[in-house]
Amino acid sequence: MSLLTINKLTASVGAEVRGLDPDLMAADDAVGAAVLDALEDNGVLVFPELGLQPEAQVAFCRKLGEIDHSSDGHHPVAGIYPVTLDKSKNASAAYLRATFDWHIDGCTPTNDEPPQKATVLSAKQVAERGGETEFANSYAAYEAFSDDEKRRFGALRVVHSLEASQRRVHADPSPELVAKWRSRPTHEHPLVWTHRSGRRSLVLGASADYVVGMDRDEGRALLADLLDRATQADLVYSHSWSVGDTVIWDNNGVLHRAAPYDPDSPREMLRTTVLGDEPIQ
Ligand SMILES: [Fe+2]
Repeated sequence: MSLLTINKLTASVGAEVRGLDPDLMAADDAVGAAVLDALEDNGVLVFPELGLQPEAQVAFCRKLGEIDHSSDGHHPVAGIYPVTLDKSKNASAAYLRATFDWHIDGCTPTNDEPPQKATVLSAKQVAERGGETEFANSYAAYEAFSDDEKRRFGALRVVHSLEASQRRVHADPSPELVAKWRSRPTHEHPLVWTHRSGRRSLVLGASADYVVGMDRDEGRALLADLLDRATQADLVYSHSWSVGDTVIWDNNGVLHRAAPYDPDSPREMLRTTVLGDEPIQ
């Protein structure tokens, strides 16, 4: 019998896992392995009102892989990063505005590190209205291509930049801010990511700036069209948060975004990131 009781939330992405004991998640290696399998199959796992405490969240994430500690210092527990627009809780809150656009985390790393494998969020405080997290399956987006599209788009390469994602949310940035964005190196990725598993997914989202060798406007129009197709409402799971919910997603196989919410809202998510070991190729 499987360790996890899983119910699919939509046809293409997301499943709910019930009946897990948070302490067991932190302690049991078999649970970690079962979660990784379920994540590969479903893209997103939702643990409703699990009540996972920060220390247990970090311990659980260690069962899934190596944890990102590069953002430590914003929360008393190492491995936890508070996601909030509230500047009193996180001094880098302004950067998080870009999370309202569809994206894959880690497409514009500081160095050449691969995108993170998985992200875990637990809801500490939720917005009164809005603030859902939405997910779209980027494997399904590739599978939906015709054979001709698979051939044509499979050859494309796309330049990703921090500037591209930040410009979408800053209408009139100062030269200093633009210079800061540009200090982060840009990265060229294939549009179609061929994973070790042999599965293929699309690498799209806010950081995708332009298509190599294509007219800038034409390439951007194509990227916007592909993103639209990948994120049609019937391909999306939208998670409405309750306090204590934990959600984990496969950052290599889903696009995600936050739905807008009042910037004065106390909404606070505690994030732990599991580092990736698979370059986009
Ligand atoms: Fe994100």
